[in-house]
Amino acid sequence: MLGVEHPVVAFTHCREVAVAAIRAGGFAVLGEAMKTLDELEDDLRWMRDNLGDRPFGIDLVLPNSAPSTRSPEEFIAEIPSAHSDFAKHIKEKYDVPAPKGAVALHQWGGLTQEMGRAQIDLLLDEHVPVIATGLGSPDFLIDAAHERGLMVWGLIGQPRQAALQLERGVDAVVAQGYDAAGHTGAMGTFSIVPAVVDIAGDTPVIAAGGVTTGRHLAAALCLGASGVWPGTLWLASQESDVDPLVKERILTATGDDTTRTACISGKTMRVLRCPWTEEWDGPDAPPLLETPYQMLLSADYLQAANDHRRADLMTEAAGQGVGFVREARGTGEILQEMIEEARSVFVSLTGAADRA
Ligand SMILES: Cc1cc2nc3c(=O)[nH]c(=O)nc-3n(C[C@H](O)[C@H](O)[C@H](O)COP(=O)(O)O)c2cc1C
Repeated sequence: MLGVEHPVVAFTHCREVAVAAIRAGGFAVLGEAMKTLDELEDDLRWMRDNLGDRPFGIDLVLPNSAPSTRSPEEFIAEIPSAHSDFAKHIKEKYDVPAPKGAVALHQWGGLTQEMGRAQIDLLLDEHVPVIATGLGSPDFLIDAAHERGLMVWGLIGQPRQAALQLERGVDAVVAQGYDAAGHTGAMGTFSIVPAVVDIAGDTPVIAAGGVTTGRHLAAALCLGASGVWPGTLWLASQESDVDPLVKERILTATGDDTTRTACISGKTMRVLRCPWTEEWDGPDAPPLLETPYQMLLSADYLQAANDHRRADLMTEAAGQGVGFVREARGTGEILQEMIEEARSVFVSLTGAADRA
């Protein structure tokens, strides 16, 4: 379908990682949901300059719950005082400084339907070969993409979402389990992948959530997936633009150091634990708000932690497989090792089968 050698799709927000994964014989989808149109345009140009005609994908998040046109400021004005007081209490308790500049609200929860639609239109105009969407694929996108010979892949966290996406006509389903970094559902990878394979017919299923070694790749193929979609695996790679302080945490963290919480965005999301997650999951916290309120509430803390490079405050989306990420190696090398390990799993299984 993609003309690539290896069944590995790197999900990344870093264009250098994406290009390195594709050059190493895999595929890559670049997460661009939080980018402005200018940034998105620049990244598309850069990808094409570096890849020529080789295909790549772009991922957008299109929450049906995103407001149509209201400004983030209008939402912020509606945040209950109990919540803003609790956020203030966390900032005081941990001595969180003010962000260095204006908070980038387009990045922290300011996504509107209008902006999402403009991002989609740009991807369609630019003929991006694979458009992947988390949290819902609108019908108009699928029709418009297919008219232009482009693919749409739907990310799902529940079999019923997969059924809906398949009915709408997506070209592949990314079945993402509970282990995964970022927004994730409640069903484990080992359960969701074969459940989606069973209903997908000829549509390829790509397994996501916890895939960090060749053993995981082999297991995903055995479950009936056509490929895997790792995200956490690349965070500490040499090409990754993740802050070196966060990379250090990734390289030492175990699955227990992650938590699945709605306190960042209002939807369940797996991230590295930090004071913000620990406090909101504690007994004194008010009930969490929905998207985009909770995200807009988190914005100050998250941006301040990054602006001031406070390792004690910073967090990042990371999956339970983070414990397998132990060395900062090149993206191509990581991918190659995954392939070799999966091959050796199959060779040893075939040998065992021959002997039986
Ligand atoms: C830092 C980071 C940010 C992510 N952001 C997004 C995103 O913007 N959109 C999206 O669809 N998935 C996002 N994801 C989830 C990935 O698409 C993928 O499903 C997940 O990383 C797979 O699980 P794994 O991390 O255990 O490999 C993100 C993952 C990571 C590691």
